[in-house]
This record gives sequence, structure tokens and C-alpha cells, in this order.
Amino acid sequence: MKLCVIGGGSTYTPELLSGLTEKKKEIPINEVVLLDIDPERLKDVGEFAKRMMTHLAPEIKLSYTCDRKEALIKADFVVTQIRVGHQIARHDDTIFCLKNDVIGQETTGAAGFAKAMRTIPVLLDYAKDMQTLCPDAWLINFTNPSGIVTEALIRFGWPRTIGLCNGPIGMQMNVASNLGVKVSDVGLDYVGLNHLGWVRKITVKGRDCTEEILNKFVPYTATNIPELDYDPTFYHALKTLPNGYLKYYYLEDEMLKKLKEQRKTRAQVVMEVEEELLAIYRDPTQHEKPAALSKRGGAYYSHVALSLISAIYNDRNEVHIVNTLNNGALKDLSDDAAIEIACMVNKTGAHPLAAGHVDLAYRGLMQHVKAYEQLTVEAAVTSSYNRALLALVNHPLVNSEKKAKILLDYFIKRHNLELK
Ligand code: G6P
Repeated sequence: MKLCVIGGGSTYTPELLSGLTEKKKEIPINEVVLLDIDPERLKDVGEFAKRMMTHLAPEIKLSYTCDRKEALIKADFVVTQIRVGHQIARHDDTIFCLKNDVIGQETTGAAGFAKAMRTIPVLLDYAKDMQTLCPDAWLINFTNPSGIVTEALIRFGWPRTIGLCNGPIGMQMNVASNLGVKVSDVGLDYVGLNHLGWVRKITVKGRDCTEEILNKFVPYTATNIPELDYDPTFYHALKTLPNGYLKYYYLEDEMLKKLKEQRKTRAQVVMEVEEELLAIYRDPTQHEKPAALSKRGGAYYSHVALSLISAIYNDRNEVHIVNTLNNGALKDLSDDAAIEIACMVNKTGAHPLAAGHVDLAYRGLMQHVKAYEQLTVEAAVTSSYNRALLALVNHPLVNSEKKAKILLDYFIKRHNLELK
């Protein structure tokens, strides 16, 4: 089996490969091709990846290339982890949003809109090539904003796409360590969108532990989310476990203040971490996944990706929390909305489990954000200025036609977006 990694020059690649080598008995992948548009960086990561594989799984052939055709041809699984515009685009967007008193986070914040607008056309173009080069491949999307990008791919480019995020597994691991149980015993009734999810029920080996966790809960936060705590009364009223990214909504003022006070943007921090990682990758004596990788936010992402690939390949009928189209699972959203939810995964893909209505306490926010997301997909696919403007007006963290216009005009100029 062949795996192609689009964005293989990412500093995250060794993380993905270490997951692959752990699961090699379950998934007979014997060829991995790293594809990237940046030859220098690809060489640094690619040579390190080769050394890593020689030590951990010499039977898997690893190569790297800037040639799309060579990389994609006859691939069985394609993973995307691209960053159009690099970290500098993330930094500039964050700063501009903050100057306009808007949270500029690159997935949940208004910068997520800009990232989606510059990313969707690129991925749809890859999808076009895949039609002839690897028509049966599964596309596993990690590229952020994962939910929006996944929706665009499934509806307009590659129906066999499944979107992933490490958020749900992070929450599951957090619950497991709080209760002192095995991660595989923890079940989450997780509903919502990517980076906008709520856990309604927590079970351990089928036993309901929701109350226990809500009472002692130490919230899950990724390394890239500034630390801020909710008032416990809010948790008790909400009666669910919110995804860490919900702090951008529930604590908007405090979060904005905190972000403005930070000396460096997350993009600047990541640029430093990447320099450190690339120096390690360039060292010919190094062949082990560096500890510094944990400074990136995507912890456990290889575990999520490879478990999913294994569930598809081995037709496991296993439950995974992933991003896919709603198709009636959540009654409060349209069928064509990408949602993040527990799905039954087998060789025919990810099938969302029926989840009914969500509580009124967060139904509105979920629908509001989905309207923004779907307008963004529409704007990216049709290159429409008007839909782009309305997408930003509908973003709950923008909520102003004046700010939306200022941001949109900036994004268009900064990223050369061609809108009509
Ligand atoms: C979190 C999110 C991911 C995101 C990552 C960013 O884990 O769930 O969606 O990609 O953080 O990490 P970074 O190191 O780029 O800030």
C-alpha cells in the first residue's frame, strides 16, 4: 500500500511516521512518498525521515519529491498537512485582527477565514489531479481549518475525504488520566464542529462518568491556547465538557486581552520551534523523533491518523471522532454541513452516529458558526466577494459589517485573493 503526504516537508512529518511504524503490523503500507513545494525543507525533513525509517521500519520505502504526479500516482491513502502562506501569513493575520480588536486565531478566529480562503483552492486542485492519479484513494485531511477544508473537499472535490483533529483524542486522554483508566476504555458522546465541540456524555467501559468528570474537571487545552479558566458555575450549568477552543467564544473579552498582551504570536513561537526542529532534522546523526516536537500543538495526531487508516483498511466498524458530512446525524444542521462527531468507521468510510438535537444552550452558537463556515466554503469555491464579506459578518467573533470589510480588504491584499 502506498501513502502520500501532501505537505511532507512539515516539521510534523516525523510524528506521522512514528505512528505509522507503531501500526505497521495492522496496515501494510510499504511505500511512503513525501510531497512538498519547498525543495530545501523537503530535503531536510525527507533525509531525517529516511534515517528514521531505516531504524524503525526498513521494509517501508520512503522517498520525497516535489513532483505531484510521482507522489500521488496509485496512492491508497493521502494525508494533507499543508500551510499555504507559511507561518508568516498566520502571524500577519493574527496581528492585523488584533489591531482591529478581533481574535485572530488561525482556526477559530477570523484568521481561520483567511486560511480557508487561501487553502481551499489549493486542495481542490490536488483533488483534481487525484481523479486520474489515484481515483480510489482516501484523503485524510489535517489541514486547518480542518472542518471548513473538509467540507469543501467532500462537497466540491473529493468525497472520500475524512477530516481529523487531535482535539477529541486530547480530551479523551485527559479524561483517562484524570480517572486513572485506559484511554481505549473512555467513550465520548462528542457533538459539534471542528474546534467547536461539546462532550455530552463520558463513559468508561460503558459506565456513565460524566458527573464525576464535570466535578473534578481539569479542562483540555492545547499548548497553543492561552490558559484561562471558566468559572465552575458555568461548567455545572452547561453540563458538558467544552472543547478547549470554545474559550475564544465563552471568554472572548478575556481572551482578546490576553492575546494582545502576549509578547509573541503563536506563529512566532512556532517559527522558533521549527528552527530548532529543522536543525535536529539536518543533523546526520539524528534519527529519533525529537522531544521538541511536543512543543507543537498537534500532539497525538499520528495516533489519530493511523488508527483511522487502520479502521478503514481493516474494515473494523470502530468508533472514531472525525469530521464528515452530517447526513442527518445532528438534527440541528443541514445534511451537507461538515460536523465533528463520533462515527462508525469501516472500509466504506466514516458514518456519523445519530445524535439527535443538541441542547439549546449551545445550539445557536453551533448553527451560527456553521453559517459562517458554509459561507466561507461558498466564497472560496465561487470566488465571490459578497459571500466572503457575509461570511466574515457572520463570524461570531467579528459580528460587524465594518470590521468584516476592513479584514476582508486586508486579507485580499495580503494573500492575493482573487474575488469578484
Ligand atoms: C491544536 C489543534 C490543531 C492545530 C494545532 C496547532 O492541537 O487541535 O488543529 O493544528 O494545535 O499547533 P501549532 O503548533 O501550529 O500552534
